[in-house]
Amino acid sequence: MSNFLSTNKERRRALLTVVVGLALVGTALGLTQPVTASQKSLPGARTASDDSTCLGCHSKPGLTKELANGEVMLLTIDAEHFSETVHSSEGLSCTNCHLDISGFPHLPFAASSLREASILLYPVCQKCHIEQYNQTLDSIHQKQLAGGNYNAAICTDCHNPHIQKRITDPTTGQLLPDARLQIPQTCARCHSGIYNAYKSSVHGDALKNYENQEVPTCISCHGVHNIQDPRTDAFRTNSPLLCAGCHTNPEIMDKYNISTNVLNTYVSDFHGTTITLFEETNSDQPSNKPVCYDCHGVHDIKRADDPDYGIAMKENLLIKCQVCHPGADANFPTAWMSHYIPSATKYPLVYYINLFYKFFIPLVLGGMGGYVLIDFIHRMVVRLKGADRK
Ligand code: HEC
Ligand code: HEC
Ligand code: HEC
Ligand code: HEC
Ligand code: HEC
Ligand code: HEC
Ligand code: HEC
Ligand code: HEC
Ligand code: HEC
Repeated sequence: MSNFLSTNKERRRALLTVVVGLALVGTALGLTQPVTASQKSLPGARTASDDSTCLGCHSKPGLTKELANGEVMLLTIDAEHFSETVHSSEGLSCTNCHLDISGFPHLPFAASSLREASILLYPVCQKCHIEQYNQTLDSIHQKQLAGGNYNAAICTDCHNPHIQKRITDPTTGQLLPDARLQIPQTCARCHSGIYNAYKSSVHGDALKNYENQEVPTCISCHGVHNIQDPRTDAFRTNSPLLCAGCHTNPEIMDKYNISTNVLNTYVSDFHGTTITLFEETNSDQPSNKPVCYDCHGVHDIKRADDPDYGIAMKENLLIKCQVCHPGADANFPTAWMSHYIPSATKYPLVYYINLFYKFFIPLVLGGMGGYVLIDFIHRMVVRLKGADRK
């Protein structure tokens, strides 16, 4: 029995590989002349009225089809939802995407599972969105897909074609505020663990519960259509700049009363200095110095003064230091001035020592210089007077 299942599974896998291959080759051949989104009003483009034929059957509730693997494909399309989609309001109809269907009966449909159906149908998107499609070719999702991981995201996982509304402002091209708030949920479908961590972080909490548009969503740090593997050395070494994009901007941070010195204090201490040097020379080399997220976390960043997890609490911070300084004891974190620029109130000793040197060194050097100068003048005068007497 288990034998049968495994061969069956293997057969499906082999079939799916062929399907993915065919889909890629087919679209490369058949759709090499993409219609760009701006060509939407060309004569000959179908109008939404064509939809009534399809919807005559497909708006009926309960229309389904059983696939070879036993999964059930739901074939009902909500006519009202569809009429509110960006594609419908741009005058596009069912057959602009379902190119091989014009009436009933349809041509035989090869997909034997729901995932296979999605993989067969999504390449049509490139016909009009070649820019986004090309970006995805280089993404980690597409690489995973090509490597046989069919759960990796394709266009229709993030954009359901039958309900997709507009997500950018057509005049400015900016992402619409409502669409931005939805982004983490889009990724949550497959990255639920990370989403749950993010949801309770200082960033996610502000987005979800206060509709804050200034905190990062998943795509602020990962990009969208060209998402790369974030666990490379280059990503790690460049990551402080990712945080700094917002955290050094007083226009954002002043509102929250958060210091914008977090980058320069980081860069100027023993950890950051080395990271910065690395960045300039060879950023793809591994570095053992901490970056922002070694202390703050990534998806689970908390407020520094969070009563449970905040790293302003020495015992919480110590755990982070011990990852690289295993022998560190309770007083170890005090060896580090955090992000503070020393002042009369914070780290007064360092501040006054700095201040002392600020005056002491010019005084000593200036004094010495002055002494040498006066001595020189004195000698010259003596010598000149001696010459006069001769
Ligand atoms: C007479 C009713 C009817 C009409 C009209 C109709 N369909 Fe279908 N459609 C079905 C049924 C039934 C199925 C289930 C599979 C089958 O029997 O071929 C289906 C399946 C599908 C599928 C799933 C994949 C497949 O090919 O099986 C798609 C996509 C689809 N239809 C799109 C359309 C589009 C687009 C139109 C309009 C051009 C349309 N249909 C018109 C009844 C209809
Ligand atoms: C923007 C392109 C686009 C438009 C417009 C569009 N479809 Fe689809 N449709 C797709 C894609 C892509 C899939 C495969 C979806 C997936 O991944 O499951 C699909 C899947 C389907 C399916 C199979 C069931 C499912 O949801 O996967 C049916 C039935 C269907 N479409 C009917 C229609 C009808 C009827 C219309 C017009 C009212 C329409 N489609 C408009 C792209 C489109
Ligand atoms: C026949 C051409 C065509 C096809 C095929 C097509 N689209 Fe579109 N799509 C458009 C047009 C036109 C717009 C409006 C874009 C604009 O005004 O910039 C649009 C808009 C969109 C938007 C919203 C963009 C925004 O800026 O708000 C998304 C997302 C989208 N399409 C995804 C898809 C996906 C996913 C597929 C494949 C399932 C697909 N499209 C297939 C023509 C098409
Ligand atoms: C992993 C999820 C994901 C996948 C896969 C994905 N998109 Fe997107 N897409 C998004 C998000 C999120 C946005 C909004 C971000 C933005 O506009 O900056 C977006 C924006 C868009 C837009 C609006 C214009 C733009 O570039 O911002 C279009 C058009 C679009 N996608 C089409 C596609 C097509 C076509 C594919 C497949 C080739 C695809 N997307 C694959 C998540 C995805
Ligand atoms: C349809 C499911 C799906 C969706 C939706 C999806 N992903 Fe993925 N993603 C995957 C799979 C599968 C992988 C391959 C690695 C794995 O299995 O975890 C992956 C890998 C990644 C990776 C590389 C890290 C790794 O573990 O290899 C990042 C980063 C990533 N996704 C970010 C995102 C973001 C951001 C979004 C939303 C805009 C998103 N994903 C939406 C399925 C998805
Ligand atoms: C503030 C920037 C930031 C935000 C916001 C963010 N990420 Fe990440 N993400 C990173 C960094 C940096 C890494 C690499 C961490 C590491 O190497 O431990 C990473 C790693 C990942 C990984 C791969 C490693 C793993 O833990 O599996 C995935 C998948 C991922 N992020 C998805 C997401 C999703 C989904 C969201 C939104 C819910 C999101 N990220 C939000 C910065 C961010
Ligand atoms: C898109 C802009 C943006 C990016 C990118 C970003 N942040 Fe933030 N961050 C914010 C905003 C806005 C807040 C304030 C949220 C609030 O208080 O509601 C915040 C809050 C914080 C806090 C809490 C400060 C406190 O104690 O009150 C920390 C810590 C933090 N971010 C660290 C990071 C780190 C580390 C990174 C990079 C991995 C990062 N942030 C990336 C915008 C950003
Ligand atoms: C070696 C550990 C460490 C590193 C590396 C680090 N931080 Fe911090 N960070 C801390 C600690 C500890 C605090 C809490 C300071 C306090 O309130 O006593 C803090 C506080 C903060 C705050 C809150 C400041 C405020 O005004 O409330 C932000 C924002 C922040 N860090 C961002 C960053 C960014 C961005 C980076 C990278 C450029 C970074 N941190 C690197 C340990 C670190
Ligand atoms: C990701 C690993 C990592 C983390 C986390 C880390 N450090 Fe370090 N730390 C290093 C490395 C590596 C050096 C050596 C730097 C050099 O010589 O360029 C270093 C050097 C130091 C030094 C200089 C003196 C010495 O021992 O060489 C101090 C002090 C220090 N760290 C304190 C801390 C504190 C406090 C924390 C926690 C808030 C911390 N570190 C977290 C990796 C780390």
